[in-house]
Amino acid sequence: MVQVLFVCLGNICRSPMAEGVFRHLVADAGLAAQIAADSAGTGAWHVGQPPDERAQAITAQRGIDIAMQRARQVAPMDFSTFDYVLAMDGDNLRTLMGAAPTAARTRIRLILDYGDTNATDVPDPYYGGPAGFDQVFDLVHDAAVGLLRHIRKNDL
Ligand code: 4NP
Repeated sequence: MVQVLFVCLGNICRSPMAEGVFRHLVADAGLAAQIAADSAGTGAWHVGQPPDERAQAITAQRGIDIAMQRARQVAPMDFSTFDYVLAMDGDNLRTLMGAAPTAARTRIRLILDYGDTNATDVPDPYYGGPAGFDQVFDLVHDAAVGLLRHIRKNDL
């Protein structure tokens, strides 16, 4: 099983969307038994909460249901469980690198490393309007497609 963890700050906006989109692509490809996805936040403010209503709405519009997901904080064991630990932005990346054992750092990357655009960060949409969530969806969808291509080529 290839294990992928998506990480943002609160685990209620960006990383739950990335998890939902990626899991949807994996299921469509018939690879659900070989690739698992999860998400977590570097912060603990929203632990136990479902994804932000705006994140749920934008993914539901695209036929992806993330309502059952619940926020959790990144835990030390994640650095041994997951093959890919993918940060939404540079801040999350630095937090993860600081928390991970040295040997695990090679598994930590920016999610947009797998995307086709030049963007490096998925912008935090929490304090903005609905357009920010559209942008998050497009960025994480593009990266999720690239990530699945990468895993099929390298890990399966
Ligand atoms: P996320 O968005 O990191 O994409 O889940 C945020 C959600 C909550 C907060 C910040 C970002 N917050 O400060 O509570």
